[in-house]
Amino acid sequence: MKKEAVVLKDSNKAIRHIAFIMDGNGRWAKRRGMPREFGHKNGAETFKRIMRRCCELGIEASTFYVFSTENWKRPQREIDAILSLLDRYLDDCEQEIKTNDVRFIFIGDLSVFSVPVQEKMKRIEEFSKNNSHIVNLALNYGGRNEIATAVNSLIKAGMTVIDEDDITGALYTKESPPLDLIVRTGGDLRISNFLLWQAAYAEFYFTDKLWPELVPDDVNEIIDNFTNRSRRFGGV
Ligand code: IPE
Ligand code: IPE
Ligand code: MG
Repeated sequence: MKKEAVVLKDSNKAIRHIAFIMDGNGRWAKRRGMPREFGHKNGAETFKRIMRRCCELGIEASTFYVFSTENWKRPQREIDAILSLLDRYLDDCEQEIKTNDVRFIFIGDLSVFSVPVQEKMKRIEEFSKNNSHIVNLALNYGGRNEIATAVNSLIKAGMTVIDEDDITGALYTKESPPLDLIVRTGGDLRISNFLLWQAAYAEFYFTDKLWPELVPDDVNEIIDNFTNRSRRFGGV
């Protein structure tokens, strides 16, 4: 389903790239007396609903923080549950690609994943590459790692002097427009190593809602809030 970009009074304020720190799955489950894995299962359903709304609103790119380079510190049982949800999603997302015009891009250091999982990701990227709504899924993603990886790729390409545009063009998010807004659920006011370079002039939106509590209409409300902000980019 293709829809026009959100129509706004001031076209400079149209949101092109939104990112989500999907935090609070564990607490959501704990409040229900359930294991953390139950929170991740529900969080995965929330992800699908939110991602679809972003596509329906015509947002060019949405980025979702699925698993950080630091999340390996968690108990193995929880890691396994997250990875198994991911694997299942990789098997199911073909329909998503067809019905929601999604172009999936997997961002992060993917070399840690098993070869079959990496191959699934490559196939999905290839299969969806002509679609219009970019959905970046951040897996084993760390912002510092992304910048270091970008610089190393430029050095490897023979560059000796590197400027800001070179780095921007070598990041995992190189296919996406500049980042407009980072949304974090779960009540914590931090960036947790997410999109560090891209966040330079992004807006932030924090909510106490836990990730599984977020509903698609919240996205509309968040975008309304974003639209009413004044972005000066250092000007007046
Ligand atoms: C976010 O929810 C999901 C991942 C980091 C994978 P959490 O699992 O961090 O949930 P809380 O913050 O412990 O509630
Ligand atoms: C950030 O959440 C990472 C993801 C949502 C994937 P965390 O729960 O890992 O962040 P911290 O540990 O509270 O900073
Ligand atoms: Mg958390």
